[in-house]
Order: sequence, then structure tokens, then C-alpha cells
Amino acid sequence: MSPIQEVIINKKTDLNPIWIMRQAGRYLPEFREIRANNPDFIKLCLNHKLSSEITLQPLKRYDFDAAIIFSDILMVPYGLNQKVEFKKNFGPLLGDLNLDNASSMQENNFTEKLKPVYKALEIVSNNNLTSNKSTIGFVGAPWTLMVYMINKQSPKLKLKKNFFDDELLIKKILLILEKFLKIHIKNQVDSGAQIIQIFDSWAGLLEEKDLPYYIYNPTLNLVKFIQSLNTPVICFPRNIKDYKKYCDFIKPDAICIDYEIDPLTIRKDIKIPIQGGMDPKILLTDKENIKKEAKRYLDIFKDHPYIFNLGHGVLPETDPGMMEYLVKTVKDY
Ligand code: CP3
Repeated sequence: MSPIQEVIINKKTDLNPIWIMRQAGRYLPEFREIRANNPDFIKLCLNHKLSSEITLQPLKRYDFDAAIIFSDILMVPYGLNQKVEFKKNFGPLLGDLNLDNASSMQENNFTEKLKPVYKALEIVSNNNLTSNKSTIGFVGAPWTLMVYMINKQSPKLKLKKNFFDDELLIKKILLILEKFLKIHIKNQVDSGAQIIQIFDSWAGLLEEKDLPYYIYNPTLNLVKFIQSLNTPVICFPRNIKDYKKYCDFIKPDAICIDYEIDPLTIRKDIKIPIQGGMDPKILLTDKENIKKEAKRYLDIFKDHPYIFNLGHGVLPETDPGMMEYLVKTVKDY
């Protein structure tokens, strides 16, 4: 079993494995080189040779304990025939959602559209660089995906005013997403993903009273499905107020925390394995500070099953040398 699986499944506390969200990406010059020649991000995700190569790039440099497949949560709306573009200095931009078209999507057509993602997972999980490491697949949570599908771009701080008006539309989208997220998850597991992470990046936009309908129930459904495939699931509900309530309801195998949350409170409240936490901006400072902050998390979770990670994706302006220093600090702890 790989160290991350040992932490999640066997609740080991002495291993301190590390991987980093967005570890394959814009802070690496070798990624930028490929990206410069591939301006269409979706096409790049659908190029299994390149996406598997990008996935493995950080493992060639650093002693990470996992590979996370180079893809995007928005590949699911793309698979449902919604137009998805990534605009420079703007982020994702989606076309109008054609609900009839999405509802009538056939399972095998969806799988066929995303086939290169699964092919890349096969390549990555069979590569020597991932032996004794975990290959991580992922999906966006239904709530976060619905935000993009209706809002058609990142909501930044708030949703558009009439977001919740069309209740029937919302209900239908949640049902479609449940179906196709399960297919996407199953395909990833069948292709070599040993762990699934669910990203709920916009969980923090909802009020407490709306959490059961938009987050707790749909996520619980996916978590149960992933667990039925004998696969551990890590949930990352960014920016929520009550991680304990979330964990009690959804019961993921591990919970990933963001950098706004106090790790001491989390350790006190939460019994399941914990991942992440350190502010990605720390990597933009200096070695002394990186060591201090990394140790703070490692000390706090010394006797708790803990996977080192950041509290959000690594920032594009991060110096690859600082990442190396972070990995060394965690490994030497
Ligand atoms: O972690 C990894 O290295 C695996 C790959 C991965 C990407 N996106 C590649 C990517 C993962 C796990 C994601 C998840 C994702 N995508 C989330 C959840 C995590 C989060 O950031 O909150 C979300 C909300 C998206 C949607 C998305 N994709 C946005 C908002 C953007 C643009 C802004 C940004 O952060 O870059 C993307 C583009 C994207 N996805 C890039 C990468 C490497 C950058 C593409 C580029 O080179 O321009």
C-alpha cells in the first residue's frame, strides 16, 4: 500500500506523505513550454500523451507521494456538450447549457468524449514513477459544477442575483450531474485511479440552511458510490464554516482543509484523516518561513493521520526551488 493509502485506510500517523493541489501546472517551466504550444486547454487535457506527461512532470522533480491526473473539473460539462473555454487572465468561460441535449446524452458517448483522460490515467498508473505512490483521480462536486454551468464563469465573490430562481432547472442539473459524475468516477477508477478527490471550490458561497440540498445530500451520494467501488475519497469543501458537521454528514475517508481554517480547531473536532491547510502564499516567502509553517502543520497533526498539502492550489508564481525545499522539509520531519 502506498503511504497516502496507509494514512487514509490504516490511519498511520508517522508517514507524513505529501502531494500538492495543482502540482502539475503553471509554476513549472516544463509545463509552460508544453502549454505555450497548446493554447487550447481542453484539447491539451484530451491529448493523452501530453496530459500523462504533464501529470508525471512534478514526480520527476520532487518526491511527491501521489500523481494527480492533469485534467479539469470542467471536463464534465464539456462531456455533456456545454462549450468550455479557458481565457487568458480571465479563467473558464462556458457556453449556454442546453439541458435537453445534456439530458439525452448517452453514457457511451460521454465516455468516448473523455476517453483520453482515462487513457492518460492508465499510462500514469502504469508508469514506474508512480510505483508505491497513489494515482489520484478527481471530480468537481455537483454544487461547484452547477455554479459553473449556470453562471458560465467563476462567480468570484457572489452568484448572480437570479441564480436560484429556476428550481426545476437546478433539480434537473443536479440529477444529470449525479449520473455522469458517477460514470466519470467509475471510468477513472477502472483506469487506475486509486483515490478520488472531490473539489467543492464554491461551497463557501452557500448559506448554512442551503447546505443539505446543494452540498450534503448530492456529495453524500457520490461519496457512497466511490466507497462502494472500494476506493477512498477525499473531500475538499473550500471555505465552509463547519467542517465537523460536513464530515459527520458526508463521512468521507479524508478531509482536505483550506488555509482560512484553524488547524488546531480541526484537529480537536475531526477524527478522520486530514489533508492540507498550509497557505500557498507561504511558498512565495523564504525558506525559514516555509520551514516554520510546514512544521506548524506537521506538529499539530503529529498524532493524527495527516497528508501534507496546501490549503489551495500552488500559485503560478511559485519558485520551483521553494517547492523542492518544502518537500524536503516534510520528508525530513
Ligand atoms: O491539481 C492538479 O495539478 C491537477 C489538475 C487540475 C486542474 N484543475 C488543472 C488546471 C485540477 C485538480 C483542477 C481542479 C479545478 N479546476 C478546480 C477545483 C480546484 C480549485 O482551484 O478551486 C476548479 C474550480 C477548476 C476550474 C478551473 N480550471 C479554473 C477556475 C481555471 C482557471 C484559473 C486557474 O486556477 O488556473 C482552470 C484552468 C486550469 N485547470 C489550469 C490548470 C493547470 C490552468 C490552465 C492554464 O495553463 O491556463
